[in-house]
Amino acid sequence: MLSQKILTLDLGTSSVRVSLSLQKGDKYHFYIKTAPSRGVKNGNIVNLASAKESLRSALNSLKLESPVALPNEAYVLVPGGCTLGYQVEATIEFPGIKTISHNDVNVVKNKAKDELLRIKGQTVKSYYEVIHVVPQEFIVDSVDGIQNPIGRSGRKLTMKAFIVLASRSHVKTLEDLLKELNLKLKGVVLQSFASSFGIRSQNSYFNNNLLLYMGAGNTEFMYFREDKPVLSKHLPFGSEDIMEFLIKKLKVSRTEAERLYREHGSAYAFNVSKEEVIHINYGSKTLKAPKILIPALIHLKLKEVFKDIKSLLSEENPDYLENLSGVYLTGGLSKLKDIDTLAEKIFKAPVTVPPLSHPEVSDVALSPLVGVTDYIVSLSDRKKLSDIREDLTRSYERGGGFFASVWRFITDII
Ligand SMILES: Nc1ncnc2c1ncn2[C@@H]1O[C@H](COP(=O)(O)OP(=O)(O)O)[C@@H](O)[C@H]1O
Ligand SMILES: [Mg+2]
Repeated sequence: MLSQKILTLDLGTSSVRVSLSLQKGDKYHFYIKTAPSRGVKNGNIVNLASAKESLRSALNSLKLESPVALPNEAYVLVPGGCTLGYQVEATIEFPGIKTISHNDVNVVKNKAKDELLRIKGQTVKSYYEVIHVVPQEFIVDSVDGIQNPIGRSGRKLTMKAFIVLASRSHVKTLEDLLKELNLKLKGVVLQSFASSFGIRSQNSYFNNNLLLYMGAGNTEFMYFREDKPVLSKHLPFGSEDIMEFLIKKLKVSRTEAERLYREHGSAYAFNVSKEEVIHINYGSKTLKAPKILIPALIHLKLKEVFKDIKSLLSEENPDYLENLSGVYLTGGLSKLKDIDTLAEKIFKAPVTVPPLSHPEVSDVALSPLVGVTDYIVSLSDRKKLSDIREDLTRSYERGGGFFASVWRFITDII
């Protein structure tokens, strides 16, 4: 079998990262390179020329290290701020009992998409395009919880799904950006959704779990039930906002705020000694201050954000918070000291910063990048349909050995 190579690009607010994953047997080996990000703010590309240079520089280092030529097409992560997510349901009925084929799944999926765009109206339809159709379950007649209905028989097929839409202009910008670097945009993947793959282990099953991705420019979250997303939201908040808050409150320079954050940063002020004293530099002057000041300011800001997330969750469905069984925290900001402790106090549920699905990569800021590879691999799983972004092809029909395929071949031509 041809071994896969997957090129993924992440245009983050703090860093631009590129990853090449090479298949070796049933494992993937990762080559990851980073460059400081220019021209990206809150996940949005605000200066195309600078973003291009950052990306070019990361790609050039990757080319030097990669043992193979880079693919000429790439997947790109999209930040939550450029997307919308909705739950949908659609049903199709057959004239009699019928064996469900890949085409029936396409019909029900397209019906769900059309229905959603009709309900959301012309504005959403003109400004957004569908990037993920994640089936939550299929129902054939009265049997529910089906992961892949192809090959089952029934009179009626229902699909419940979570649909993610991305801003057309953002996707177009990415396409243009890649074109200038001689790359084709193979697909886009929602950052938080990719992260959910990037933190999975073989036995992961997300049920009443909140996935929280916190980066430099934005916070995204996804709620999972029965291992499927049911909600996706974002807040334009990241470690950059913490930095700006420190600069404003302490009236220090950017460099000094960064130093204070790096040396004394912590999310849970109650774990910090009240007596310890630190020095804050103001140009040529230095002032003494209690060390707890820095964590207290960060604590305050993060508490607000976690509370906002809670409100957004309960606005959508109060059960999400009441049944919350655990929070997975990922992204660069999840490396902040005691952020899990603070999150635990506010969400009143266990909070973990899980390791990545590929242990050879240890930086949790890379969960979306690594996750794209797992996501792509999941697309060829025939037992469950993890995303139907494009119409399924015949290869999705369940395998059933040689005779089944011969039979399918015959039924196709007659
Ligand atoms: N060890 C750490 N402690 C606290 N914060 C950290 C640490 N490492 C990284 N960060 C924060 O994470 C941010 C980067 O997060 P990341 O998810 O890479 O963001 P983006 O994808 O938006 O560039 C940095 O700007 C920094 O503030
Ligand atoms: Mg990011």
